[in-house]
Amino acid sequence: MFALRAASKSTLARGFATSARADYRCVVLGAGGGIGQPLSLLLKENPKVTELALYDVRGAPGVAADVSHINTKSKVTGHAAEDIAGALKGADVVIIPAGVPRKPGMTRDDLFNTNAGIVATLAQAVADNCPKALVGIISNPVNSTVPIFAEVLKKAGVYDPKRLFGVTTLDVVRASRFVSEIKGNDPKDVKVTVVGGHSGPTIVPLLSQTESSADIKGETYDKLVHRIQFGGDEVVKAKDGAGSATLSMAYAGARFAGALLRGLDGEAGVVEPTFVESPLFSGEGIVYFSSNVELGPEGVKKIHPLGKLSAEEETLLKACLPELKKNIEKGVSFVNKA
Ligand code: NAD
Ligand code: LMR
Repeated sequence: MFALRAASKSTLARGFATSARADYRCVVLGAGGGIGQPLSLLLKENPKVTELALYDVRGAPGVAADVSHINTKSKVTGHAAEDIAGALKGADVVIIPAGVPRKPGMTRDDLFNTNAGIVATLAQAVADNCPKALVGIISNPVNSTVPIFAEVLKKAGVYDPKRLFGVTTLDVVRASRFVSEIKGNDPKDVKVTVVGGHSGPTIVPLLSQTESSADIKGETYDKLVHRIQFGGDEVVKAKDGAGSATLSMAYAGARFAGALLRGLDGEAGVVEPTFVESPLFSGEGIVYFSSNVELGPEGVKKIHPLGKLSAEEETLLKACLPELKKNIEKGVSFVNKA
């Protein structure tokens, strides 16, 4: 069985890169949590996933048993705290929503002290067990957890910048939804590019580049930008101490994982904004940046330039860069001071 799976993988990779392969192992680290559970459910519905491995320090076997009864073809396994290797071995895609969420009054950076160590531990496990997997980091603060993950992989000698992604899809999902609420159109027709990072002023929506939002101006524009940048706070406030966005994030995480799988499968033209090692602002010392990225069989295929920005977007970008730089440096020095 294993030989058959391996043979079909390599044959397709060599000869038929655009054929649907549909036999991928997808792993969720933090599968027992508020995001992890619905994300696992949505991944169970993805026909490209044939093995779904769910890991958490608590509760993963139960979630796996539950999800495994859904009548789609993937095999689901649950892995408890001591079995991270069992979850990660053979992984094609690893999605990570492990770590604590915000409470009202907190910034994402306030999660750094707890989540930095969690993410560093998980990065070491990925380095040890599946260094070639494509990894999507959901755990906050994304602007710092992605650099932390990269530094751990670098220390282990297995870092490949094409394979590590910060998941910023929720910002894109929100932007699309919020614009459609103003315009009264269907959000599926509203594709907004959001660049920068994933926290407050580092979130930069490029509304001028989308037909439905290009004419939004004045106070409506300012409120829309603020809502996209601080949409996470809306949910944190409404949940009133019970955490942050979980269901919309699971939707966004499943969409991003789906895009990674479509890229792996050789599908052409799969483009999602995501936070990756990027040349766009590296001259200014900002090594990671989210922008439209084309995904392919090796992960990052092409990082798109930002395109033409409006004067307002230039101002937003100016506010984003120094904050993003600080967040990235904090992540890098966490690993290198340790
Ligand atoms: P949660 O507390 O409901 O779930 C987190 C899970 O992580 C728990 O089940 C916990 O047991 C698990 N966990 C903790 N340490 C672990 C470890 N070492 N290994 C494996 N699992 C571990 O939180 P949540 O609401 O699911 O949020 C998770 C993270 O996602 C938070 O940091 C939150 O800020 C972030 N988040 C990011 C985005 C984004 O857009 N990138 C959106 C929403 C939330
Ligand atoms: C979000 O944007 O919803 C997440 O980053 C969670 C948060 O802390 O707001």
